[in-house]
Amino acid sequence: MRNLTLRHLEKIYFDTYRGSKVHAVRDVSLEVEQGDFVCIVGPSGCGKSTILNMVAGFLPPSGGEILVGERAVSGPGPDRGVVFQSFALFPWKTVLENVAFGPKMRGIGKAEREEIAREYLALTGLAHAADRYPNELSGGMQQRVGVARALANNPDILLMDEPFASVDAQTRMTLQEELTRIWQERRPTIIFITHDVGEAVFLANRVIVLSKGRILDDVEINLPRPRIWDDLVESDAFKMLSGQVLHLVRSA
Ligand SMILES: Nc1ncnc2c1ncn2[C@@H]1O[C@H](COP(=O)(O)OP(=O)(O)O)[C@@H](O)[C@H]1O
Ligand SMILES: [Mg+2]
Repeated sequence: MRNLTLRHLEKIYFDTYRGSKVHAVRDVSLEVEQGDFVCIVGPSGCGKSTILNMVAGFLPPSGGEILVGERAVSGPGPDRGVVFQSFALFPWKTVLENVAFGPKMRGIGKAEREEIAREYLALTGLAHAADRYPNELSGGMQQRVGVARALANNPDILLMDEPFASVDAQTRMTLQEELTRIWQERRPTIIFITHDVGEAVFLANRVIVLSKGRILDDVEINLPRPRIWDDLVESDAFKMLSGQVLHLVRSA
């Protein structure tokens, strides 16, 4: 079992501009089962990115601990793949080379890593774009490359910080549907951060509502899969759950 455990996680920043402490994360404990799809939702500034960056190993906690399986997180590692809002692709590398980069860093030979890259490009609907450069792609396609690149390392956990926030609404819906399909096919553990309640309820099995650095509630989302927007917008269960989570976020 490679589940994710957060125990009494805490983060205090020092705001050098104001000369004061910022208690961004206060006593967050969470157990995420392997293969689960968890969204963390909450208003801007509630500590979502701080939690994700600590789990990714980019930021040291001020207190508490993070475990992947039995192992304590002490820095970044290939067991955790990260997808950010900004695409962060290498502009001088082709799409194929971008996706093959992680396997290359792990010492996998050219033929094999290109095969891996092609597999994930096919999974994300980008097989036709393998030889193009990032600046030749739309925002939605660049974000698909980001997802393919993270998955190509075969991580236990995929960490996503508002990855679809900068694409247009129609593309965002397509990307959300694609992500749920990929999750169903491969079943990585996903921790997905968003301030968008509809997105969280659409994607997740479990929505964690965060408020001022604390977990306010943990809502089970038992909507059937596959999830398709055209069906869900009509669904009373979706409307009810979205309303429930929205109410929690607004009370936060
Ligand atoms: N490097 C930093 N130094 C000081 N304060 C920070 C820093 N990063 C984030 N914060 C503060 O910590 C709080 C949580 O930020 P963040 O985790 O980015 O929230 P979210 O992702 O939910 O919008 C905010 O009050 C933010 O201003
Ligand atoms: Mg953030």
